[in-house]
Amino acid sequence: MCDDISVQKNVYLDQILAERRSHRRFRPEFCGEDEIRRILHAGLLAPFAAAAVGNSHDYFRRFFVVRKGSESMNAATPLVMRQVEKMSAVLEDAMQNDPALRVKAAGFVRRLSMIQSAGVIPGVGTAPYYIVVAERRGYPPVELQSLAHCLENMWLKATALGLGFQLISVTSQMSRDPAFCALLGLAPGEWELMGCAVGYPADELSPSIRPPVEDVTVWFV
Ligand SMILES: Cc1cc2nc3c(=O)[nH]c(=O)nc-3n(C[C@H](O)[C@H](O)[C@H](O)COP(=O)(O)O)c2cc1C
Repeated sequence: MCDDISVQKNVYLDQILAERRSHRRFRPEFCGEDEIRRILHAGLLAPFAAAAVGNSHDYFRRFFVVRKGSESMNAATPLVMRQVEKMSAVLEDAMQNDPALRVKAAGFVRRLSMIQSAGVIPGVGTAPYYIVVAERRGYPPVELQSLAHCLENMWLKATALGLGFQLISVTSQMSRDPAFCALLGLAPGEWELMGCAVGYPADELSPSIRPPVEDVTVWFV
């Protein structure tokens, strides 16, 4: 049934889905902690892999809100940069003897190299908040998929609140870094991580442009 309320809900939902964009420039002002809490609550409402983490006594999803200028941000930033340097060295080494990888990873290697030259990790310390989300490793290992659902909910909520949001996927590389995990109070290797930056966006971005559904869909009827 398509009553007025359902039409209205869909108008708002479609608007939020279209307005969700990756913001990479933020204004310096901090948004309220209550807005951050509402974003985290949206993350908690996301689906999780119940069969994979169902037996854990301890809750399997955690949030760490790192404020720009805090001691934790100052400690985390060089650890993430060190990981970028490591990833870059390992990848460049692997590319030496693997022409297919050389082609496939060229863009990513360029990005890592730009980050190192600039000495700035996009999103880490460039936005008012860096939020790390942790999901306990379970079996089967589907934590990263679960985190993606969580982050998408957070992203949509941030959009609805008029806040900018940027995924920081290098955060996932920090899950086995002992110093980074110690900073969060987590045992290294027991959790998967993902991160995002949140703050007031510096720019207004146009809604997403995607191909028409029919161009990318095959119907088996
Ligand atoms: C798995 C995944 C990892 C991503 N990692 C990053 C990232 O580290 N930094 C970033 O700025 N954007 C990241 N993005 C955002 C994409 O670049 C972005 O969603 C895409 O370019 C489409 O733009 P839109 O989000 O504005 O629609 C990531 C997206 C996905 C799905």
